[in-house]
Amino acid sequence: MKGIVFTEFLEMVEEKFGYTMVDNLLSTTELPSEGVYTSVGTYQHTEMVSLVINLAKQTNIPINELLKVFGGYLFKTFTKTYSHFMAKAPDAFTFLASIHNYIHVEVQKLYPDAELPHFDIERPDDKTLVMTYSSARKMADLAFGLIEGCVEYYKENVEISQIPINEDGSITKFVIIKK
Ligand code: HEM
Repeated sequence: MKGIVFTEFLEMVEEKFGYTMVDNLLSTTELPSEGVYTSVGTYQHTEMVSLVINLAKQTNIPINELLKVFGGYLFKTFTKTYSHFMAKAPDAFTFLASIHNYIHVEVQKLYPDAELPHFDIERPDDKTLVMTYSSARKMADLAFGLIEGCVEYYKENVEISQIPINEDGSITKFVIIKK
């Protein structure tokens, strides 16, 4: 997993819980990297899982909730660092439908070792976008937060349903309906 995800995660922890929590997390989580992250580096995905599990323990906030909040935070960061992607899409559905075949493709060119999810897109009608997430990293809750961050950015009013498709959480369907 790319370092930018870790550095943004720790920044969110500092903003929401204070620097003491960052310090506490880094010293009490088993981390092969020893918690030293640079935004362009690459680290084991399991380090992120360990950090989120420990943060959930320390704060009593469920893991899925923390990942959703982090997704929203990460999208805000993306709107600053990758604003050219938003400039190309006039609305949230156009943006979300372009992640797999455009945005993540560009991300992969930038960081050849990035581990990105797969999204299948369906548009059953004008008001509905269906995104089916698949990834061995099982971060559907992060995807939910990113989708929420995206519709917030475009100031749109939608309802998002998250439907697990298999037992281990590696495939999840998101049904996004305009209100
Ligand atoms: C400007 C917009 C976006 C950019 C620049 C971007 C970029 C990235 C980057 C750099 C990673 C980390 C890859 C790694 O650690 O190896 C990532 C992972 C991920 N992205 Fe995006 N992303 C964007 C939008 C989105 C949106 C809107 C969604 C949700 C639908 C999404 C879903 C995910 C998920 C769930 C992961 C975690 C890896 C996994 O589940 O396999 N991304 N993305």
